[in-house]
Amino acid sequence: MPLFLLLLLVGGSQATHFLGTVMTYSPRSTSDDGSLTVVVRYKMNFHLCGYSDRFSCFSGNCGTQIAFNLRLVYNESSGEWCQTEGITTLQVPSNAPFSVWLNSGNWIDNIVNGIVSWRALTLVELRNRSDTGQANRSPQTTILPALRVPSNCQRNFTLLAFDPDGDEVKCRYGNTSESECNPCTPVSVLNLSSTCTLSFSPTNTSDEGPYAVQLVMEDFPRQTIGLTQTGGVQTIVTTSDAISKIPVQFVLRVDPAVPSCTEGLYLPRFLPPTPANRAQLYTSVGQTLEISIRAEANISMISELLYSGPHNMVQITSGPGQFVLLWTPSGTEAGESHPICFVVQAVHNSTKYHSELRCVVVSVGNNPSQNITATAETPTTSPATAETTAASPLIVLQMRVRVSSSFQLTEDYINTVLMRVKDVMVSYGLPQSITLTYVKTL
Ligand SMILES: *[C@@H]1O[C@H](CO)[C@@H](O)[C@H](O)[C@H]1NC(C)=O
Ligand SMILES: *[C@@H]1O[C@H](CO)[C@@H](O)[C@H](O)[C@H]1NC(C)=O
Ligand SMILES: *[C@@H]1O[C@H](CO)[C@@H](O)[C@H](O)[C@H]1NC(C)=O
Ligand SMILES: *[C@@H]1O[C@H](CO)[C@@H](O)[C@H](O)[C@H]1NC(C)=O
Ligand SMILES: *[C@@H]1O[C@H](CO)[C@@H](O)[C@H](O)[C@H]1NC(C)=O
Ligand SMILES: *[C@@H]1O[C@H](CO)[C@@H](O)[C@H](O)[C@H]1NC(C)=O
Ligand SMILES: *[C@@H]1O[C@H](CO)[C@@H](O)[C@H](O)[C@H]1NC(C)=O
Ligand SMILES: *[C@@H]1O[C@H](CO)[C@@H](O)[C@H](O)[C@H]1NC(C)=O
Repeated sequence: MPLFLLLLLVGGSQATHFLGTVMTYSPRSTSDDGSLTVVVRYKMNFHLCGYSDRFSCFSGNCGTQIAFNLRLVYNESSGEWCQTEGITTLQVPSNAPFSVWLNSGNWIDNIVNGIVSWRALTLVELRNRSDTGQANRSPQTTILPALRVPSNCQRNFTLLAFDPDGDEVKCRYGNTSESECNPCTPVSVLNLSSTCTLSFSPTNTSDEGPYAVQLVMEDFPRQTIGLTQTGGVQTIVTTSDAISKIPVQFVLRVDPAVPSCTEGLYLPRFLPPTPANRAQLYTSVGQTLEISIRAEANISMISELLYSGPHNMVQITSGPGQFVLLWTPSGTEAGESHPICFVVQAVHNSTKYHSELRCVVVSVGNNPSQNITATAETPTTSPATAETTAASPLIVLQMRVRVSSSFQLTEDYINTVLMRVKDVMVSYGLPQSITLTYVKTL
């Protein structure tokens, strides 16, 4: 894929083929007069890159748009779908809640659960939280336009459900009477858990076909908090009240049965060092994050890495089933968390097969002048394999890590470095239970 691409906007959005959307928001700044700027990002999935939609105000005062950008995220190689991202900066006069929606038509044809028109609603809550002293931030997630599963296989789709304020994130189907979709018919072949896992169990061939999955993701405080509006009125929010809500909509394709559901044959299987699902990664402004993804499929042929993430992410294919995603955040992204999801697609006998869905969230360090970078050098394995108990063998490795820093390393920072090294090692497949200890500075 080229690094930069200009998109041609085709006016109007009628008679298009929609495959869902995800909307998130991030507050940016507050002025002395109480007005705020907020960045609303929305992924749009259509069959062609030239189609797009613009959200409009549904309720409250949505302010004025002061910037808008439309970017290409990913264009599926066979022309099945294209994901773009609209990035809108709104200036609102106060932090009072408002909601915006996409409301038009049509989804792709022959949706099994009967959805034709698209509608997606986002509730933007920017009131000042008593626990963080800042405007609320929405959950962060993304999705691919279409996910596939053969009708005879079991599969769980565990969506990314990350909240930058540390809230509990829950998922539910949209509610038609709340104008969250038009209509919100649930998907009969999926069981949705409130923790945002969709489980698919082997089903009848009569259930095959595309489904419109229309979810709502919400953030709930972990303890009762207050939300203060510009001017001073405070509202109490308990752990059973949602603060904000965002739409997560995509197509689930239930495909004809596959001869074997074993991962690694027809269905691609992820291999290390692919990060674990829901892994949390870190980088800082100007520093390139590298995500290595490997997969195998012994019968089908791996054809591409499908992904959704920041529009300026770059993909490198280094061999069959070997991919690297590169992303360098800019200054305006400092302090934000960006979601990335991916699926490996394989082809056999002109049938497409998907790996499981994996997503990670990338937190962008706030202070570029205080870069902490840790590069693990080839571990000098002193096979001082310690005592081995029958239940869990204990392995001790010595690792040399080079840390470059623009300031003196205090114990606090060493602990931060240790935490980050651990996160990286866990994302490479080591268990959460590993312990890292600082020994000495060489
Ligand atoms: C997207 O991919 C399709 C199919 O390969 C191609 O025809 C189309 O030109 C691509 N669009 C863009 C904007 O890259
Ligand atoms: C939010 O509240 C905190 C303390 O309650 C205050 O320090 C801060 O200035 C407030 N922020 C805004 C944007 O009103
Ligand atoms: C899928 O999720 C269900 C319930 O959430 C769980 O019981 C099952 O073990 C999971 N299956 C796989 C293959 O992870
Ligand atoms: C959907 O919204 C309506 C109106 O707010 C409410 O009465 C109803 O209980 C909601 N349905 C569900 C399933 O939550
Ligand atoms: C959903 O879960 C229920 C109860 O666990 C189970 O009986 C049903 O078969 C599941 N449905 C699907 C589509 O997985
Ligand atoms: C499969 O579908 C047929 C026809 O719709 C139905 O009669 C049958 O009960 C279904 N079987 C299962 C296991 O759901
Ligand atoms: C695929 O082939 C490789 C190399 O022959 C083998 O190690 C691996 O176990 C195979 N995968 C499956 C799922 O059979
Ligand atoms: C390839 O697909 C065709 C039609 O979809 C089917 O008849 C044939 O058996 C398939 N061949 C293999 C090797 O799977």
